[in-house]
Amino acid sequence: SASEKGGWTSFMAKEVSEQPDAVANTLRGRITAEQVVVPELTEFGDDVLAGVRRIVIIACGTAAYAAQTAKYAIEKWAQVPVDVELSHEFRYRDPVLSEDTLVISISQSGETMDTLMAVKYAMSLGAKAISICNTQGATIPRESDAVIYTHAGPEVAVASTKAFVAQITALYLFALHLARVRGSLSAAEQAAQVAELQAMPEKIQTVLGVEDEVRQLARWMSDTRAVLFLGRHVGFPIALEGALKLKELAYIHAEGFAAGELKHGPIALIEPGQPVFVVVPSPRGSAHLHPKVVSNIQEIRARGARIIVIAEVGDAAVLPFADTVIHIPLAAPLFEPLLAVVPLQMFAMELAIAKGLDVDQPRNLAKSVTVE
Ligand code: G6P
Repeated sequence: SASEKGGWTSFMAKEVSEQPDAVANTLRGRITAEQVVVPELTEFGDDVLAGVRRIVIIACGTAAYAAQTAKYAIEKWAQVPVDVELSHEFRYRDPVLSEDTLVISISQSGETMDTLMAVKYAMSLGAKAISICNTQGATIPRESDAVIYTHAGPEVAVASTKAFVAQITALYLFALHLARVRGSLSAAEQAAQVAELQAMPEKIQTVLGVEDEVRQLARWMSDTRAVLFLGRHVGFPIALEGALKLKELAYIHAEGFAAGELKHGPIALIEPGQPVFVVVPSPRGSAHLHPKVVSNIQEIRARGARIIVIAEVGDAAVLPFADTVIHIPLAAPLFEPLLAVVPLQMFAMELAIAKGLDVDQPRNLAKSVTVE
């Protein structure tokens, strides 16, 4: 009903707007001014965490893109190798796990059957399992050794938005807790990451301000047949998530690529007028990657692509080559995904609205897939 939507036209629009709170509420009680202490992990056992040699993250859909994003942070801060696995693929392989492997599942609902079966399978092979979940008392957290709840609040729209940013937040808290107990990050570096985390809700609030711009863009593009998304480093899983959102909501063929992979195949898809979103790394924070992505943009521009960039405020290098620039505030590179994803969510939603589609209940999809 309209009152449940709190004046918003859809649950999705409401949930997109709730993302600053989703992050703030997930941080609450888990950080001090200098460091991250997740009480649920302390209880699980810092000694166990200190002995972990490998992490496998299992998830489906949007949650799997949160996992792919967090891989960069966990490996950088805690220096533990991370593999990201789709639950349904993991479950039916013969994965090699040992007692020093930690399995982390991510599930908004906590009821996704593929993920539940994968967790049970991993535990039967002797792995310890931590659940990241948005639903109190759901099946997956009950079956796991420990749970870090995301506090995004109930997510009703089928396409996941606020749960995604809360999942990345929870995974970053995990990574920083792990880094502390393993001694892999200096006190100053830990404090710097905590400050970045604390600044995110306000920065996401700022990004929400691009709404009108994105709506205009979506209206112009409402008869687009295919859209490509490029990203690099943590921008890569965000490109994948942007493409997933567009498929789910607007039924448009969409594909995400790692920008460095362009020359190995996808560039053949570029023809005049082909829309391409590019998630551009910061020219300050990622000075080594930024010029490479700018040169990718020049390559596709030369072949006629219509380029929409998501770039840091003040990034002048992209301006001459972009048809549309959507700005995000300054943030350290690992935190850019929490900002860059927001315009992509909005774009998919606005394009679906422009096509007259139901954004809360896309065809053929279920909020939680409780069958195999
Ligand atoms: C379904 C939903 C997706 C979601 C995926 C995983 O396919 O439509 O939006 O990302 O399930 O759901 P979970 O509850 O496990 O996060």
